[in-house]
Amino acid sequence: QHPGWPARLGPVMVAGGKVTLRPVRFRDAAAWSRIRLRDRDHLERWEPTGRGSWEVRNHASNWPSLWTSLKAEARRGAMIPLVIEVDGQFSGQLTIGNIVRGALRSGWIGYWVAKDLGGQGVATAALALGLDHCFGPVGLHRVEATVRPENHASQAVLRNVGFREEGLLRRYLDVDGAWRDHLLVGLTVEEVMGTVVDRLVREGRAALP
Ligand code: ACO
Repeated sequence: QHPGWPARLGPVMVAGGKVTLRPVRFRDAAAWSRIRLRDRDHLERWEPTGRGSWEVRNHASNWPSLWTSLKAEARRGAMIPLVIEVDGQFSGQLTIGNIVRGALRSGWIGYWVAKDLGGQGVATAALALGLDHCFGPVGLHRVEATVRPENHASQAVLRNVGFREEGLLRRYLDVDGAWRDHLLVGLTVEEVMGTVVDRLVREGRAALP
């Protein structure tokens, strides 16, 4: 096993409910597919382009192969693929990827949350839990994220947890059918005073049960 995997994180209380993170499961197929098919207009603009239609890629029958590859990456120590639960219900995903150790000790973080839970602090809480895990048990020194300049909600979430802007990556990623510019944001462990969750609690954005 690799440090920090598998993991159960939280809870943190926000307006949307009780936020916890846990490893992806084989039996997430139905909940994953139902939300992703329903929320296509909310998700597709911000996600890497895939092969085949949205309906096919997000059909429940596609989950087992996705789950298998996420678990394989996790076993290799390169990824931490988590589900965001709100009050015990599947509500999105948070993934830490490209985990590199040695003198870099770095990874990226990415997430999505169901549309009907929007604006209730769920992504902010999930990201805080994920970052504290990266800088704690996983032992990373730096975490980065990339976000489209048009994605104002995600930029707000990244700012909420203390990410710093580092630059603009031109035509960085094939998202929604074209090469899209992305802002690069980063955070190193020295910049976090205490934990990120503590910071949210101090700022009144979250509470501990
Ligand atoms: N313009 C500016 N700010 C906005 C907008 C908007 N149109 N809409 C929401 N916001 C702000 C809110 O005010 C809030 O900021 P605040 O806490 O400072 O008030 C913030 O965005 C939302 O915070 P949360 O409630 O914690 O986030 P939520 O649970 O709604 O999830 C997320 C946000 C993850 C971006 C969700 O909308 C989503 O899944 N979108 C589609 C997928 C996506 O974009 N994923 C992120 C890709 S980039 C990456 O992974 C690094």
